[in-house]
Amino acid sequence: MPSAQPGFWLSPADAAAAPASSLPQILELKHVGKAYPLPEGGVRQALEDINISIADVPGRGQCKVLLGPSGCGKSTILRLIAGLIKPSEGEVLLDGKPVSGPGSDRGMVFQSYSSFPWLSVLDNVRYGLDLAGTPRSEGNRIARELIEIVGLKGAEDLYPKALSGGMRQRVAIARTLAVKPRIILMDEPFGALDPMNRQAMQDLVARLWFDGELNPTFIFVTHDIEEAIFLADSIIVLSAGPGRVLAELEAPPPTPETRRGITEGRFNELENYIIELIYGPQDGRHAFPAGKVLGG
Ligand SMILES: Nc1ncnc2c1ncn2[C@@H]1O[C@H](COP(=O)(O)OP(=O)(O)OP(=O)(O)O)[C@@H](O)[C@H]1O
Ligand SMILES: [Mg+2]
Repeated sequence: MPSAQPGFWLSPADAAAAPASSLPQILELKHVGKAYPLPEGGVRQALEDINISIADVPGRGQCKVLLGPSGCGKSTILRLIAGLIKPSEGEVLLDGKPVSGPGSDRGMVFQSYSSFPWLSVLDNVRYGLDLAGTPRSEGNRIARELIEIVGLKGAEDLYPKALSGGMRQRVAIARTLAVKPRIILMDEPFGALDPMNRQAMQDLVARLWFDGELNPTFIFVTHDIEEAIFLADSIIVLSAGPGRVLAELEAPPPTPETRRGITEGRFNELENYIIELIYGPQDGRHAFPAGKVLGG
């Protein structure tokens, strides 16, 4: 295992924040294991002794990225936090209380475009507010505001079939934000987008947590190292399955300067550090491919 995290990308926002230990924890996974039963008998151990603590930092958004190779249990961790499945060992605590099922305090954005095809953009974004009984005029006001924030102004009356993949993901994000969840779970939400769209969507998420007024806690899953470095305030690196936490690394702030740094290769040392954490030392001949996407 590499000895220490190279130290030049400490985020000023992190340096200024109160130490995590003095703050209440919004979310804790304590010694969490998950074994899925297999149809042929036996189990598949997806996660082993996962320990993750996320502090509730008042008045500030944050973005914790879960980074690991395909099949290491990233989606399983999100499903546990969402309350869609239960751990086999250990506990998942939200504000110190065990998660017993889904709740409006946690919103989820999936990889596939999860907007309702029979509803217009405005009605899609207002959906959760309608369910919560928010008066229609207030719901429309909130939905229009969010549609503008995610860059879809003018598309309010369009239906999803008339939207690009990136636009549909903007609808999904606006719909999730509408009910003001404290935690937003994103499972490789931009995996299906072309590079330009993907970058624009990363910028949107960065704005929402880093200089937005909404201050949500994002838990964002990816196997793309550069996406993790750009978006995260800290990166939780997971081992190949069964997933275990290998390290939590601080990341630079999601600014244009960081974007330039990634393009110019200034974060190669951090990228290599992450690759060695997961796969062990890389010799020259078998060096990790330049694509920087963790394989299965
Ligand atoms: N319902 C299930 N039944 C049995 N095994 C499952 C089930 N869901 C997931 N698994 C297994 O658990 C492990 C972790 O799966 P998970 O989907 O959490 O991984 P992941 O890190 O999200 O992968 P990817 O990056 O490919 O989405 C895998 O080995 C997978 O085959
Ligand atoms: Mg997954």
